Amino acid sequence: MSIWNKHQVFEKNSFVLLVGILVVVAIGGLVEIAPLFYLKSTIEKTEGMRPYTPLELAGRDIYIREGCYLCHSQMIRPMRDELERYGHFSLAAESMYDHPFQWGSKRTGPDLARVGGKYSDEWHVEHLINPRSLVPASIMPGYPFLAETELNTRDIQASLTVNSIVGVPYTDEQIENAAADIRGQAMPDTDAAYDFEERWPTAKIRSFDGNPREVTEMDALVAYLQVLGTMVDFSIYDDKANSR
Ligand code: HEC
Repeated sequence: MSIWNKHQVFEKNSFVLLVGILVVVAIGGLVEIAPLFYLKSTIEKTEGMRPYTPLELAGRDIYIREGCYLCHSQMIRPMRDELERYGHFSLAAESMYDHPFQWGSKRTGPDLARVGGKYSDEWHVEHLINPRSLVPASIMPGYPFLAETELNTRDIQASLTVNSIVGVPYTDEQIENAAADIRGQAMPDTDAAYDFEERWPTAKIRSFDGNPREVTEMDALVAYLQVLGTMVDFSIYDDKANSR
């Protein structure tokens, strides 16, 4: 009996076949999974990444609430057309503080992973109120109510706490002062802004919606959009690529 005929044992007995399948899948699983236990992290260390400030995090919550992710991805793939249009491809580290991540799965509109700094705050405010005032052929819906709705800061402390439970390194001080820091980041030249600066030295302070007297949902969403893709300095990566 040649060795191939022995395969009949599997073909004729479903229980033996089942055990055989389990053995093969277990070997495949071990080869894939075992190395992960010996790696400290599957995310490359990247300089510049910091957790979202309370205002940016609140803006991110609005982004999720309004379903922006249904039309916009935040994931630049390493393909030439995407690199030329959007810039350096997305790194795992860039979404390490995103719970849940906002990679998205559909691009009705452009990718937003590097939209921070591409336009002015005024552009974003105008565009979110009425996209067609700036891009006449746009099919994006307007969100004019964001500019008129005061930002609800009641749950922001709980939101930071939950993020810290799943691994975002917020300090106790940052969590305790979350609501005050929302006002601090969006209201320059106030005492709250000075305190904010001590706790968040690398974050930008300004009135994102152009009205420094109150903090609106527009402030939060624009603060979030303007920080996307700006934390990691990609010029070092681009230099490396050019010298190759
Ligand atoms: C129905 C799909 C749709 C939804 C929902 C949507 N957008 Fe858009 N968005 C678009 C399209 C299409 C464009 C391109 C035309 C334009 O600039 O208006 C766009 C453009 C943009 C741009 C400019 C990007 C660039 O690089 O030029 C930003 C920023 C943006 N959207 C943010 C948002 C935010 C924030 C939300 C949620 C509040 C949102 N969008 C919801 C479809 C959508």
